[in-house]
Amino acid sequence: MEKILIKSFTSGPIRVHPYVVIDREAKVGCVIDPGGDSDLILDEFVKADARLLYIFNTHYHPDHVAHNGIIKDIVPSVQIAIGVDDAKLLETDFSNFAKHHDYPIIAGKADVLINDGQIFEIGNIGIKCISVPGHTPGSVCFYSPELKSVFTGDTLFQGLIGRIDLHTSIPEKMFDSLMKLIDLPDDTQILPGHGRNSIMGNEKAMIRQMHTDFTFAQNKMV
Ligand SMILES: [Fe+2]
Repeated sequence: MEKILIKSFTSGPIRVHPYVVIDREAKVGCVIDPGGDSDLILDEFVKADARLLYIFNTHYHPDHVAHNGIIKDIVPSVQIAIGVDDAKLLETDFSNFAKHHDYPIIAGKADVLINDGQIFEIGNIGIKCISVPGHTPGSVCFYSPELKSVFTGDTLFQGLIGRIDLHTSIPEKMFDSLMKLIDLPDDTQILPGHGRNSIMGNEKAMIRQMHTDFTFAQNKMV
């Protein structure tokens, strides 16, 4: 059996990917973006006899945080961690989204406010937080050298980037944020909030091109 478990799910009406990460030796773990399937997520911790330390949210959107509160009710010691600039937004009234999709959203409240460069330790797994404002003001990517993976939420997908036309998006910051991911090794797995996985080596040219195009367009603006 592998020492480290990474398991992904596809959950909820927007088909978001929650990820469970467990250090089986240290018997501790975390979940990234529990947008649904809290029962299946918690099952993984029971099976591994591991303690759930953190819920990491890549950003505050309801499809990514829907089961934060359900998990916190069952595991009160778990810490909900989200980018400092999304923490207040986590308390948004999501009832319209919930009604529209007939899907309960219990986002809970932030326990830990994440700043750029902050590092969390989950047993022997390091999770480095990269602040990537753009899709939302407090979006964060979570990079782990031990896992050779980066959890990108709605900032970077296979072959495309996240939406920057939403009401709390900051489009002018998105392209500089994406450039912060350029230095990650080419073989880093991209584990996005939706859709298929990729690797950094396959996405760097797109990121550089978009950054160049955006800078060019900005300079042409009068
Ligand atoms: Fe989103």
